[in-house]
Amino acid sequence: MGWKQRLPFLRWSMVRMALAMPGFLKTGQIGDGRERATADYVEAHARRGDVDHVLATIDEFAREKSMLMNVGDEKGALLDAAVRRANPVRALELGTYCGYGALRIARAAPSSEVFSVEFAAANADVARRIWAHAGVSDRVTCVVGTIGDGGSTLDALAGHGFAPGGLDLLFIDHDKSAYLSDLQAILDRGWLRRGAIVVADNVRIPGAPKYRAYMREQQGRQFDTVEHRTHVEYQTLMPDLVLESRYLQG
Ligand SMILES: C[S@@+](CC[C@H](N)C(=O)[O-])C[C@H]1O[C@@H](n2cnc3c(N)ncnc32)[C@H](O)[C@@H]1O
Repeated sequence: MGWKQRLPFLRWSMVRMALAMPGFLKTGQIGDGRERATADYVEAHARRGDVDHVLATIDEFAREKSMLMNVGDEKGALLDAAVRRANPVRALELGTYCGYGALRIARAAPSSEVFSVEFAAANADVARRIWAHAGVSDRVTCVVGTIGDGGSTLDALAGHGFAPGGLDLLFIDHDKSAYLSDLQAILDRGWLRRGAIVVADNVRIPGAPKYRAYMREQQGRQFDTVEHRTHVEYQTLMPDLVLESRYLQG
C-alpha cells in the first residue's frame, strides 16, 4: 500500500476536492477538469472493450493522478456482491459522476440494462465516453435530471420502460440529503419488485442519517437491511458505511 492510500490528507487532489465541495454540490464537478481528464486517461490507457481494464484504469487514475468520487474498489466489491444477489434485469443508479458505478453494475450483471440519473450534463458526457470505450453503451444509459424535479425525470425513466415491479436493483449515490425522498418517490411509483436490493453509499461519510434511521425503523417490515462497515473510497483511514436493503414488499 502506497503513502497516498495511508495518508490521503497529504494528497493535493484530495485537499483540492475538499476545498471544492461547495461548488461541487452546485455543478457536480470539482472544478479542475479532473472528470474530463478521467475520460481522456481511460481513452489513452485502457484497452477498448475491456470492462475490467477500464475499471482498473479509473481506479489507477483516482489513486495516482486525481482523487475521484467513485464508489471505488473496496466499496465497489460490496456493490458487486449485492448486484449478484439481486441478479438484475433492470438496474438504476442515482448519481453517475464519471460512470464508474454503473460500469461495475453492468459488469456484475452482464445481461442487465443499467440506467443512471445525473444532474450534471458534463458528467453525463464523461460517463458516456467511458461506457463507449468499455463497449457497454448499448445497455448503460444516463438520464440527465434529478428524481426530485417534480416528475419529469421519473417520467423520462418510465419512457425507458420503468414500470411497477420492474426494478431489481437501485444504487443510491448522489445528494445525501435526497437519499430518502428519492427512494420514497421511486417507492411511490411501485417500481421496486419484491426482493429487489437497494444499496446506499456514503451513509457514514458525508452521511445520510435520515436514510439510515428510516432503514432501521423499517427493519423487517418494508426492508431487511445489512450495514456494511467499510472505508471511504481510495484510502484506508476514514470509515464509511454501505447499506444493503432487501425490499420485502411489492
Ligand atoms: C458520489 S458521485 C456518484 C459516483 C458514482 N455513483 C460512482 O460510483 O461512480 C455523486 C454524483 O451525483 C450527482 N448528483 C448530485 N445530486 C444529484 C441529484 N439530486 N440527482 C442526480 N445526480 C446528482 C453529482 O453531480 C455527482 O456526479
